[in-house]
Amino acid sequence: MATLSRPGETVSADTAYPSFPPGFLWGAATSAYQIEGATREDGRAAGIWDTFATVPGAVRNGESGDVACDFFHRYPEDVALMRELGLDAFRFSVSWPRILPDGRGRVEPRGLDFYDRLVDELLAAGIRPFLNLYHWDLPQQLEDEGGWPSRSTAEAFVELAEAVAGRLGDRVHDWSTHNEPFCAAWLGYALGVHAPGRRDDAAAVAAAHHILLSHGWAVEAIRREAPGARVGIIIDSWPCHPASDDPADVEAAAVGDAIRNRLWFEPVMLGRYPDLALEVLAPLAPPVRDGDMAAIAAPLDWLGVNNYSRSILRADPGGGPPLEVRAPAGPLTEMGWEVYPDGLYELLVRAHREWGATSIYVTENGAAFGDIRGHDGRVHDPERIEYLAGYLRAVARAMDDGVPVEGYFVWSLLDNFEWSLGYGRRFGLVYIDYPTLERVPKDSFEWYRGLISANPS
Ligand code: FCB
Repeated sequence: MATLSRPGETVSADTAYPSFPPGFLWGAATSAYQIEGATREDGRAAGIWDTFATVPGAVRNGESGDVACDFFHRYPEDVALMRELGLDAFRFSVSWPRILPDGRGRVEPRGLDFYDRLVDELLAAGIRPFLNLYHWDLPQQLEDEGGWPSRSTAEAFVELAEAVAGRLGDRVHDWSTHNEPFCAAWLGYALGVHAPGRRDDAAAVAAAHHILLSHGWAVEAIRREAPGARVGIIIDSWPCHPASDDPADVEAAAVGDAIRNRLWFEPVMLGRYPDLALEVLAPLAPPVRDGDMAAIAAPLDWLGVNNYSRSILRADPGGGPPLEVRAPAGPLTEMGWEVYPDGLYELLVRAHREWGATSIYVTENGAAFGDIRGHDGRVHDPERIEYLAGYLRAVARAMDDGVPVEGYFVWSLLDNFEWSLGYGRRFGLVYIDYPTLERVPKDSFEWYRGLISANPS
């Protein structure tokens, strides 16, 4: 693999720039609630994260996305930073309660106006917008009517797809429906650690099915409104490995894989729920009606894979669900997640060979570390640079082995609201000084900029 350094600079072997073929797309990812702020402006109604953030103990220090990075007002400055970074593409999501305050019905034009301005700003900077429809901020009104466990929420999602694609489809060509349906369904409805904070397995299984169904319906709606759109979905992948060769641990890892990975990739890519997942969930079952599986498996233009780490699992001697084991060695990020680039390689290979993806983007990958701004006013984050270099080598290796990866989006452009961990985790290439909202590019920003200029698309 070619290693490059800028004049006068020494790049250590671990952080040398891997090389990528021309045309490879370099991006950064964000989501609406995590960066926008302005939660009460221009007709935006409450979403489930606004509500969840008010529940005592739900979010670290009672923090919320009310201000976040104030991207809603400062996006021109941030687009200028993207340009300086050399980004080819910017991944963002729209806030459903900004566009359809009641979840369905009345469209708030001022909500759409914001994304209209953002898209124009991106295009003027030569940056391709990758627009994602749902990154977890369901209008509260829809949650009050039953939320994702209710099929009517999937119907309402089609209205969101139509409104957004109808307005922006002339300029946005790269679309995704959902981000990480596992998190939306499981963390929100079964484990209750994300909004709306419900702890009800039956609700989570129904939510999973309706989210996937809404994906399939939205794919059609986007294509109807924006002919020529390239449509995909973004799924989180988490390799599940057994803690030992003991057959019980091997089985535990297979169960983990069925629920964490196959339950999401297989319906979308192969049109069926995996038998093992259905066995594990029984007697609960996804509320499948005639035609649903075909809708969910609507052919896609691309598949988005998010990956950060892996799980190591062992069997519970008491017969309960598989138990997570701490990684035996190696560095952890501040999330407590093992740095394990081979996991991304493994998932990319599976996405292509097992699930048949022919165009893949790594739609999120990155790391939180305890960044601080030093006396020199800068943020030195060598661990993040090493993390990114290691994972990008894994991407390059998958491509060498024939996996059709077309681009990479680092999570994230900016430090932002990390869900129930509030502002306590920093994933950005750009440090946010929250009291002043000043943007401070970190060393990793410079590193990523060098990587992009060494590998022009
Ligand atoms: C992913 C989410 C994203 C962010 C990163 C760290 O699961 O899609 O919003 O929280 O993790």
